Amino acid sequence: MRHLINILDFTTEELLELVDVANDIIADPKKYSEVCHGKKLATLFFEPSTRTRLSFEAAMYELGGNVIGFSAAQNSSAAKGESVADTAKTISCYADIIAMRHPKEGAPLVAANAASIPVINAGDGGHNHPTQTLADLLTIYREKGRFDHLTVGLCGDLKFGRTVHSLISALSRYEGLNFVLISPEELKLPSYVKKDALKEKGIPYTQTTDLEGAMPELDILYMTRVQRERFFNEEDYLRLKDSYILTPDKLKNAKPDLSILHPLPRVNEISVAIDDDPRACYFKQVLNGKYMRMALIMKLLKEAGTL
Ligand code: CP
Repeated sequence: MRHLINILDFTTEELLELVDVANDIIADPKKYSEVCHGKKLATLFFEPSTRTRLSFEAAMYELGGNVIGFSAAQNSSAAKGESVADTAKTISCYADIIAMRHPKEGAPLVAANAASIPVINAGDGGHNHPTQTLADLLTIYREKGRFDHLTVGLCGDLKFGRTVHSLISALSRYEGLNFVLISPEELKLPSYVKKDALKEKGIPYTQTTDLEGAMPELDILYMTRVQRERFFNEEDYLRLKDSYILTPDKLKNAKPDLSILHPLPRVNEISVAIDDDPRACYFKQVLNGKYMRMALIMKLLKEAGTL
């Protein structure tokens, strides 16, 4: 059974195949409107979400399928102590595919090992968020026309930011990438991500606290939120939460074709004054996420032999 737990579960050829399908859906959505007729997606969200859950649901409806699920752990039998594995076995009796978000790192993998249907990791703790990476990749491809030879700045919470970890892993497989890691000292990229995705592959990267200093060289700026829910102590969160606030003034030395991405939700880290700048891509990213999730659902159902 094929699942998507880590973005590296898919080859670069498979990622390009998903991008091609997503672009085809954008060009001709009617062609796909009944592809998943009679199929059910289960959205098992043990942690809050707006974009990921609702885009999965919109994706399945736009493929002609149906959706069941829950949006909070307290609305499920997890509140009575049921394990992730038993939940996955149970849902396998009702649905054709699962999208799961969980605060515990590795929970979707546990579900995949127990389920008899494909499982998609919709975000596990501070670990990975591969379907956000699919949204990011389609956005990069549509803006830049390539995944190679780009200087990518990642800014904000690089320690707990699961979207950052997945995106670096995905991009580390392309030629000519250069990463600029912009964060406060306390929120630097974890050593294991640096080692596995960058150092072992000899990919150049720099670490800095200075967003404006890094700006002129960037092709892509990936902003992230400092996540209150990942901190053990409120004092540290309050001290770090406004470390980076992107304003029009800070873009004065940026390239004219910079692409500004953000997985959202945003709190303070991008001024709303940037939203009308043609370089702001974060709401395009939201829509791209739905198309990539449509492509992903079809791929996994086909590989499971149920489509
Ligand atoms: N980007 C993202 O995962 O957003 P949600 O938390 O709203 O799903």
